[in-house]
Amino acid sequence: SAEVERALRECVVDVPDYPEPGVLFKDITPLLADHDAFTAVVTALASAGRDGDGNVIVDKVVGMEARGFILAAPVALALGAGFVPVRKVGKLPRATHAVSYALEYGEATLEIHQDAIAPGDRVLLVDDVLATGGTAAATRTLVESCGGVAQAFSVLLELTFLPGRDAVPGLPVTALGRV
Ligand code: PRP
Ligand code: MG
Repeated sequence: SAEVERALRECVVDVPDYPEPGVLFKDITPLLADHDAFTAVVTALASAGRDGDGNVIVDKVVGMEARGFILAAPVALALGAGFVPVRKVGKLPRATHAVSYALEYGEATLEIHQDAIAPGDRVLLVDDVLATGGTAAATRTLVESCGGVAQAFSVLLELTFLPGRDAVPGLPVTALGRV
């Protein structure tokens, strides 16, 4: 929509050399603070959770800590689906599945509550940025560890100089913006 285009153009601020030299950080906090922009973005991210007739085709929406939480929770409400957090290691209090993946330096581990998704549940993944795809791939694996079926991945921004989509083969990726 025109409002999504405005949101991406005017409400995402590029911050050079953050968090370290050479990295161009995409700051979405102005978008979140703009009600019209946030509303349009949530509606657009949710559309991957509907079929062509507008019927909801997912049972759960998964958001990845931390920025994914902010987008995925309102998407879940918009769809009438449940929200499930994927968290950084050590934050979930009950039995979890865990997946570790390589970062540029070191390793990251994400977790999901084992009972957060029921076998056969259809799941929409939502995050703010798709870069290397490591976060998305690990999240997909966690959903599948619960017996869930990852249906689609909705993301605000895709960094096109990285092959992030290739990390989730066969999973439809909808990016509202590609930079
Ligand atoms: C950022 C971003 C995505 C992820 C994308 O999260 O919010 O979740 O990186 O990168 P990838 O495709 O290479 O995995 P980050 O780990 O910085 O944490 P945050 O959301 O808690 O800020
Ligand atoms: Mg993140």
